[in-house]
Order: sequence, then structure tokens, then C-alpha cells
Amino acid sequence: SGYFTYDPGFLATASCESAITFIDGGKGVLQHRGYPIDALAKEADYLEVCYILLNGQAPTAEQYDEFKNIITNHTMVHEKLAHFFQGFLPDAHPMAMLCGVVGAMSSFYHSDLDITDHEQRMRCSHRLIAKMPTIAAMAYKYSIGQPFVYPRNDLTFAENFLHMMFSVPAEEYKVSPTLAKAMDRIFTLHADHEQNASTSTVRLAGSSGANPYACIAAGVASLWGPAHGGANEACLNMLEEIGDVSRVDEFVAKAKDKEDPFRLMGFGHRVYKNFDPRATVMRETCHEVLEELGVNDPLLDVAMALEKVALEDPYFIEKKLYPNVDFYSGIILKAIGIPTSMFTVIFAMSRTVGWCAHWDEMLSQPGQKIGRPRQKYTGEINREFTPLKNR
Ligand code: CMC
Repeated sequence: SGYFTYDPGFLATASCESAITFIDGGKGVLQHRGYPIDALAKEADYLEVCYILLNGQAPTAEQYDEFKNIITNHTMVHEKLAHFFQGFLPDAHPMAMLCGVVGAMSSFYHSDLDITDHEQRMRCSHRLIAKMPTIAAMAYKYSIGQPFVYPRNDLTFAENFLHMMFSVPAEEYKVSPTLAKAMDRIFTLHADHEQNASTSTVRLAGSSGANPYACIAAGVASLWGPAHGGANEACLNMLEEIGDVSRVDEFVAKAKDKEDPFRLMGFGHRVYKNFDPRATVMRETCHEVLEELGVNDPLLDVAMALEKVALEDPYFIEKKLYPNVDFYSGIILKAIGIPTSMFTVIFAMSRTVGWCAHWDEMLSQPGQKIGRPRQKYTGEINREFTPLKNR
């Protein structure tokens, strides 16, 4: 074991070379293919960012339209796939449904199992990006006992998602431009984030040549945890537990107490130790949405009080703990009326493009090897083995 570098949690190990996303955590910089995230969030839409991540540069108007058409035309899922949901209990967590249904997609698109050329990998990626929102909305509709709402090709990506979530046969959901924009920003700001746990999982799974649906299902599984994509859901659960502004100080004290395992969910980041550039844009959108909806929700008051205390408290300043993107996205989703159990699902659908871009990049690299970390063995060695009958 002495021959290997031991780096638990990969704090100091680069696992690959990548030209997709650049992060300078100290300076709060995040760029996709060299384009700064705040410019992308403010001036591009999610599908444009998807194109950039997959293709390496911003599209021309013609390329953008063509890409948008491809994605729009792939939004339907096979009716048999829709039947899968009937096998789940209605109270199943939508992430559990997503893991299963995405993995099962490999049994529908046999031609996608040949992943040797880039064009073919792009076809799978388009299918995944387009169908994820449909599957996500189906998981939600199933959980509340409503019929599935099929995608509408005349709507934008974000509008269509809200339509599939909130329309009912008797009444089409009227999508407000502010909410559609907020939704689109949530997708954009979660589109990629270099070698995070779920993306590294997708790369590792894909390095063996596994099919893309199985790899993306692995990414969904990894994202589910509360330290990663599950943070936005955990954050809202925490706000519910706090319940009232008067209890914020008590919970801040708990977070600071080293004897207490409690952490303020939605605060801190492995890479951003000064501020999360995604959080800055998301914060703006969060305030816009709250203003437009005029929501009067005690949980949102708790969130705002927590933000203030944490930004001013010496413990959080010293440990460089700031509200992260999921703190604000959780609040926005809650205000839009999306149930907490769907938060991580929305993160997963947004991140699908990043997972696909990394998977394709890895398989495009010459001499790509199977990912096979080594270990530091700490168990016993050379023990004498006594046959069972003598033990
Ligand atoms: N509340 C209270 N204390 C904290 C928190 C928090 N949220 N986060 C970190 N700390 C303290 C931690 O106790 C430690 O203190 P000490 O040095 O005294 O032991 C110090 O700050 C460093 O923490 P760490 O766990 O070593 O830092 P890390 O880089 O390994 O962890 C993190 C990063 C995001 C897992 C962590 O900050 C955390 O658990 N945050 C809450 C969960 C969360 O919001 N996650 C979403 C991240 S953004 C979305 C995504 O990337 O998926």
C-alpha cells in the first residue's frame, strides 16, 4: 500500500483531465467551456447551456434552433416506460422512482448500447436530457394520484416542465414568465459542476463501458445523499424543524456545537470557500420570485433570518461557510409550490447534461482506462485458516 497516494475524499487528487468546467473555489469562479456562470445564467437559457456543455462552444442561432428541436422531439417516453410507475408504492420517494426508471431506459433503446462513436453518444445524451423532465414529472403525478401530463412541444423547456408538473386534465397550468425564468435558472445553475460525487460516479461507472442509462442511474443514486443533491431537500426539512424565526439562534448554536452532529443544511461547500457564484445569482432570483408571488410563508422568514445570522456570525465567517446554491434553490422551489421530495429530482434532471458531457468526454479521450482506485489495506494478513469442522 505504500506505493499509493492515500487521499480520502479526493481532497487533493485530480481524477481526470477535463475541458468542460473550470472552478476556482478560492475566487468564487465557475465557468462552463470558458463562459462565466453569471453571464450564462443571465443571458442564456438552459438549453443553450446544454449545447455549450456538450459541444464546447456557444451555438449560432441556427445551431441553437436545431438543438432545441432535437430535444423537444425527444420529450415523450415509451408508453411501456410509463407503466413502470404502477409498480411503485404511491409514497415511494421520487428519487427512488427516478433511479429505477432511468436505469430501465437501457432496456428500451437498444441502439444506444453501442457507445463507440461520439455521434451515437450525443443521441443518448439528447434522449436523456429530453426525457428526464417527463420522467420526473411522472414520478410526481404518480405520487399524488393524478394522471400523467404529456409534454407540450410549443413550450420552452422550463415551461413544459411546469406544465407537466401542475396541469390537470380539467385545467392547463398558466406558467408565469417570472416562475419559468426562475425554473430555467435553477436548471442552468445545476447543469454541471466538474468532478462532484455524482459526476465522478458517472465517470467511474462509464469507464467500464457500461451503457449510458445505467451510468446516469448511478449518478442519480450518488446525487441523492444529503451531503450532495439531497441538501436542498434537507435544507427545507431543516427550516420546517426550526419552524419559527424565534428558534433560529438555538439552531445556529447547535450547528456551532462540536458535540452536536447537526449542520446547517444549505451552508458550506467543499470547493467554494469564499462564496458560491451560483448562490449569488440564485439569491437574486429567489428575491424576485418571493416578490412576484408575495408569499407569506413562515418558513421563508426562517430562511431569511438564518441567512442573516449565518452571514454575520464569526463561526460561519471563520469557517468560510456561506449559503450555497441549494439554500436558495430550495426556497424558490418551495415558493413555486414544488414539494420538497422533488427537489433532488430537479437537481438530477438539471445535472443530466453535465453527467452526459463528462461521460462523452471521457470516452472520447484516447487511451481512456477503466477507473480502478487502489486502497490502503488495514485488515489482517496471513492468518491461519482452520477448516469449519475444526472451529
Ligand atoms: N454547518 C455547520 N458547520 C459546518 C457546516 C454546516 N453546514 N459545514 C461545514 N461545517 C464545519 C465543519 O463542522 C468543520 O468544522 P471543524 O473544522 O471545526 O471540524 C468545517 O466546517 C469544515 O467542514 P467539512 O465537513 O470538513 O468540509 P467539507 O468541505 O468536507 O464539506 C459540505 C462540505 C458541503 C459537505 C459541508 O459544508 C456540509 O455538510 N454542508 C451541509 C450540506 C450541504 O448544504 N451540501 C450541499 C453542497 S452544494 C450542492 C452540491 O454540491 O451537491
